[in-house]
Amino acid sequence: MEVTATGAALGARVTGVDLAKLPPTGAGGTGIREAFLEYSVLLFPDQTLSKQEQVRFSTLFGSPVVHPTNTRDRDAEVPEVTLISNIVQDGEPIGALGNRELEFHADLVFLHVPGSVSVLHCLAAPDSGGDTYWSSNCAARDALSSEMVARLQDRQVVYIHRNPSYNPDPPARHPLLCRHPESKRDFLFVSPSSADSIPGMGNEESRALLDELLDHATQEQFVWCHRWCPVGVVVWDNRSTLHRRDGFGAEHRRIMHRTQMLGPLTA
Ligand code: OGA
Ligand code: MN
Repeated sequence: MEVTATGAALGARVTGVDLAKLPPTGAGGTGIREAFLEYSVLLFPDQTLSKQEQVRFSTLFGSPVVHPTNTRDRDAEVPEVTLISNIVQDGEPIGALGNRELEFHADLVFLHVPGSVSVLHCLAAPDSGGDTYWSSNCAARDALSSEMVARLQDRQVVYIHRNPSYNPDPPARHPLLCRHPESKRDFLFVSPSSADSIPGMGNEESRALLDELLDHATQEQFVWCHRWCPVGVVVWDNRSTLHRRDGFGAEHRRIMHRTQMLGPLTA
């Protein structure tokens, strides 16, 4: 197995391994987990996995769960795999997320135990558009001034999904300064999509700080862009990274199989 860093603030390409044949325990899995903790995003080019094989590979990073909100086209036999696609059949989208641009976010942050790791297996990609970008929350943390670190210490963010039926009661809160439960690296965590407020701060101050932190966290030097090429697999750490996606033309076909794990955000 060969691991080659992208040269950006995160990400590595892993070759010389067949994920479909990877035993769930053993040396190959350990090497992948170590590389994952070091690089936060791993790209495995040229991999073809059945849904069952994807679920088994995903167990290297936790227990795959049935996506809590995406119920569309759930496969009764492998409900842990959700379909991300813009394709419309008989007037109905076959998967989630369509072809629109997605702003920087982390997945499932409105849960008390949020997304920890996500896996996308690319089966079809547009010739242009639909690229996905990841930014390093560790690099963002390292670049905070000591004044800002002092300001963020012990502060939390309340996350509220725009669909009220998804929100637990009380709503989820996550710290701004986290320590990775496995790598023990410090990182800044703020996901704009459902960040609502910072308890103990006035509305205006809290909004301004959240905006400032998001701009800080997604600076170009912290970001790696991936141009999808079927067939390949990307695994990302949903704690130490944020991700976003470019929109793409409705005439293109984009198909991804997705699995997700949940886990605590901070040690
Ligand atoms: C996701 C997501 C990005 C993409 O599945 O959580 O944000 O490139 N997908 O489709
Ligand atoms: Mn996402």
